[in-house]
Amino acid sequence: MTTHRIERLRAALARAGLDALALVPGANLWYLLGLTIHPSERLAIAFIPAAGPIRVVLPALEQPRAAAEARVPVRWYPWRDDTGYEAVLRACAGDLQLGGRLGVEYTAMRLLELRAIEAVARVETIDATGLLAELRMVKDTDELAAMRAAVRAVEAGLAAAIAAIRPGVTEREIAAAWEQAMRAAGSAEPAFTTIVASGPNSANPHHTTGERQIQTGDLVILDGGARVGGYVSDITRTVAVGEIDAELRRVYEIVREANAAGVAAARPSVSGAQIDAAARSVIEQAGYGAYFIHRTGHGLGLETHEPPYLHAANRAPLPSGATFTVEPGIYLPGRGGVRIEDDVVLTDHGAERLTTFPRELIVC
Ligand code: GLY
Ligand code: MN
Ligand code: MN
Repeated sequence: MTTHRIERLRAALARAGLDALALVPGANLWYLLGLTIHPSERLAIAFIPAAGPIRVVLPALEQPRAAAEARVPVRWYPWRDDTGYEAVLRACAGDLQLGGRLGVEYTAMRLLELRAIEAVARVETIDATGLLAELRMVKDTDELAAMRAAVRAVEAGLAAAIAAIRPGVTEREIAAAWEQAMRAAGSAEPAFTTIVASGPNSANPHHTTGERQIQTGDLVILDGGARVGGYVSDITRTVAVGEIDAELRRVYEIVREANAAGVAAARPSVSGAQIDAAARSVIEQAGYGAYFIHRTGHGLGLETHEPPYLHAANRAPLPSGATFTVEPGIYLPGRGGVRIEDDVVLTDHGAERLTTFPRELIVC
């Protein structure tokens, strides 16, 4: 399968007129070669030329594990702390006859790697982020199975988190209950920092989970993700603690309707902009447009945020097999917020929800 990925990559390199691709540790390296080289201050670069052997420069201590992990043939260029990487990188660049147009990851490559490459080869660096995102956007059966497993783990954790909610418990304690149950259900790690935002804190979409104690009348936003087999899930539910304000109750139903409208609008060949508009118009027509302060969703896979993005500027048609979140929200400063986030996969017949957790308001 990975060989197939390399073939697809090489076809994309040819279309983009690139002579080679340089990858640093991260999701693309795992996707294409199967390597999980530990990201650190030490230099590690994989070079995939348009034709010829794949070559990887890496710290010597990483080589045994990398050699065991590699899903395609690789020539290794290990370097040691006491001798440094310059000579090894130079030898690798020579063997590659590195030059011309080199694709790099603009959001991941550091000046460390860029300057090191420029010191040993004359290259024009080109952003390959979009090309790589396109390869990863359509998920195959194995990838979807991993994402479904990540959904099962996060939802098991979410049930435990909601069970832990009562007046006096802190946001941090609820997040800990979630993460522990999620791990017990098979998650290797949280996909991102678990968000538990209570009362007025729920009006901040990216609140930092803290020591606030839950009170009766709070809305509590719970936003978490699991990782299984490399792939992530990302779910948000908002619950009420006892009796809540009538306007907040209304706002909850508007967001639930916006979530349903976004999912209903999602079909292959529809754009991220159209799905965003479908969800956003429900909130705008209810008079809360100014309080929906983020995009409707984002792609999901090896990373929690990856293309496609669901906002007004993304007019590209979405392919069948794309996976993304639909997560409208309304945030009333000083009072509270509601977000309802589901993960979906596009099929030829429309969007299929991966997340199954109930969306009706849960009162704790
Ligand atoms: N927790 C970040 C997000 O839902 O995108
Ligand atoms: Mn999300
Ligand atoms: Mn989320």
